[in-house]
Amino acid sequence: MDLELPPIGLGTMGIDEPETIASAIEMGYRHLDTAQIYENEAVVGEGISRADVPREELTVATKVWADSLAPADVRESTEASLDRLGLDAVDLLYVHRPIEAYDPETTLPAFDSLREDGLIERIGMSNFTTTQLGEAREILDAPIAAHQVERHPFYREDDLLEYAREDGHTLVAYAPLAQGNVFDDPILGEIAAERGVSEAQVSLAWLAGTAGVVSIPKASSEEHLKANLAAAEIELTSEERARIDGVEGEGKLFE
Ligand SMILES: NC(=O)c1ccc[n+]([C@@H]2O[C@H](COP(=O)([O-])OP(=O)(O)OC[C@H]3O[C@@H](n4cnc5c(N)ncnc54)[C@H](OP(=O)(O)O)[C@@H]3O)[C@@H](O)[C@H]2O)c1
Repeated sequence: MDLELPPIGLGTMGIDEPETIASAIEMGYRHLDTAQIYENEAVVGEGISRADVPREELTVATKVWADSLAPADVRESTEASLDRLGLDAVDLLYVHRPIEAYDPETTLPAFDSLREDGLIERIGMSNFTTTQLGEAREILDAPIAAHQVERHPFYREDDLLEYAREDGHTLVAYAPLAQGNVFDDPILGEIAAERGVSEAQVSLAWLAGTAGVVSIPKASSEEHLKANLAAAEIELTSEERARIDGVEGEGKLFE
């Protein structure tokens, strides 16, 4: 697989302090996920520049919002993203959602051309169905490097995971803590108590233990950032995994 992502990256939606980004990088985060619609690319860029870690050690991902998916807008908005990030190129550029101005026949060649021109290293999709992924694969020159989708103990689309494994792209799990709902689940609570860890760590360990899946929890405090990174070291048993697989919950948070 061309793209090697660590099991735990940093979701940045809602982070508005460069110091949070800088301290996350210095503590060991290497995959940073932002988007045009989060309106914090400048914050992420400032955090990257403050951190004492070489740029080439980081995987920086951003996403083109649905209103900028016409070809000219793809280029213009990506140039604006790079400007805000203070970077010459991003490692991964996603189609954020295949809606509004998304037209596979024109949007995707615009992404290919950004890659040919060196503004982006790789192309990713977010919130696609397997049919939409198949169509994208037919049109794109570049491989699909990653598919970013909602995934946590209360919501998983295993057809997307199977597709990712077959196609050889990484499945990036967003909202891996179900935005905090993991703390309300009795099964996760039991496993967390038995192990002396938190429900958030159990959820992240469960995702990290799924081949082909990485996650991007968002955290703002030093304590949460550290705990989430450390969750990659927790190895759940197959019995614990089976208990989590059986969890049912609120389901999908994002439409
Ligand atoms: N592609 C898409 O369409 C899409 C959609 C949604 C999200 N995303 C991406 O996925 C990332 C993560 O999703 P998300 O931000 O929606 O939700 P999330 O990561 O599931 O949950 C974040 C919430 O959990 C709290 N938290 C984090 N670590 C914790 C810990 N160890 N203990 C207790 N609480 C903890 C955070 O609080 P504090 O901030 O106070 O630490 C925050 O309130 C986003 O930031 C974004 O990059 C992508």
